[in-house]
Amino acid sequence: RRRLLGTAGATGLALGAAGGAAGYAAAPSPEKVAPLTSLGTGRVAFHVKHQPGITTPLQAAGHFVAFDLTAGSGRKEAVALLRRWSDTARRLMAGEAAAQDDTDVARDAGPSSLTVTFGFGHSFFARTGLEKQRPDALDPLPDFSSDHLDKKRSNGDLWVQIGAHDALVAFHALRAIQKDAGDAARVRWQMNGFNRSPGATARPMTARNLMGQLDGTRNPKPSDTDFDERIFVPASGDPAWMANGSYVVVRRIRMLLDDWEKLSLKEQEDVMGRKKSTGAPLTGGGETTEPDLEKTDADGKLIIPINAHSRITRPDQNGGAAMLRRSFSFHDGFDADGVPDAGLLFIAWQADPLRGFVPVQRKLDRGDALSAFIRHEASGLFAVPGGAAEGEYVGQQLLE
Ligand code: HEM
Repeated sequence: RRRLLGTAGATGLALGAAGGAAGYAAAPSPEKVAPLTSLGTGRVAFHVKHQPGITTPLQAAGHFVAFDLTAGSGRKEAVALLRRWSDTARRLMAGEAAAQDDTDVARDAGPSSLTVTFGFGHSFFARTGLEKQRPDALDPLPDFSSDHLDKKRSNGDLWVQIGAHDALVAFHALRAIQKDAGDAARVRWQMNGFNRSPGATARPMTARNLMGQLDGTRNPKPSDTDFDERIFVPASGDPAWMANGSYVVVRRIRMLLDDWEKLSLKEQEDVMGRKKSTGAPLTGGGETTEPDLEKTDADGKLIIPINAHSRITRPDQNGGAAMLRRSFSFHDGFDADGVPDAGLLFIAWQADPLRGFVPVQRKLDRGDALSAFIRHEASGLFAVPGGAAEGEYVGQQLLE
């Protein structure tokens, strides 16, 4: 059963056409609505060297969910589960229905660049008798002094990341993955994120976060000569089952938006060391101009402050440590006192967390300018194996 792609469901582009009566824009006639065919028809391959959802361009909707194996479930149940999950991921990413009891939630829509990505947490290995296969890189992250971590929303045996440009397509996949878990695994925690929809800006741009900053500017790029080395475990893998895999650090970082929004624009820009409007360094140029870290103003003060987030996090300030940040914003309503429960689902990919996230977070933990406006509330570290070859399931080399 295949779905119809991108005809009836296509969204209209800008509705702001002039000429409406009594202060309202006229509703565009259907034939004038340019179909965004690329949105629904976008299809990401499942059987690839590196799992999808790592270098895939950011999608508009994301779900992050951790599962724990149930009491009595071990390696055998895990094998069957990863088989079911891989089959579901392959089907849904191709725009097909789930194998059983499809809910119809994504009917009429194309795959909408859906990706489903699977990872294993530290606790998975003891549960399945596979301790000998557990990579050292999965050793628990160190405690950081500024952590306010909720254990119930941290870690987990298994981790699934779902991304799609359509919220219904993303939910459809989430529900299918949860149903596939059956009696073998239970949801431990789940988080929902979002990013700008493609087409919202006139040209593709770096995403903004909920502080209003362009976030992702200095990410390593797949065209960089050292990209694979920084982000992926080599094909010769250690352990072998992690060949072409990556390690993901997941942090739910609350933004203290009430405090942040009280700052003047100048204060906000000093926190980051970059212009809010263009993302350019405070020392001038455009978004991708190299910052001049030594440049001072007429009073001899550094223009990019010594504790600016963009200075402290630079690879050249952290022994070369680099990671691919592929984060989503979250908003889970307002606390009883009206404080927004919103921020960044920080998702960072690297070949080794000890050469990526850990040294940078150690530095940030000493207090960069951004620290006063954020709070790390949950944390996870997962080993994400390479992509499954045709006929294989994700994690097969670990589990068989
Ligand atoms: C850069 C925001 C947390 C690592 C940046 C930039 C922004 C930003 C706006 C500059 C533009 C860019 O290059 O992307 C935030 C916000 C955070 C946060 C709002 C929390 C809510 C973190 C954390 C880490 C981190 C926890 C790692 C431990 C980096 C790195 C860079 C960066 C590596 C690029 C540095 C470079 O290569 O020059 N961040 N960040 N950030 N951030 Fe963060």
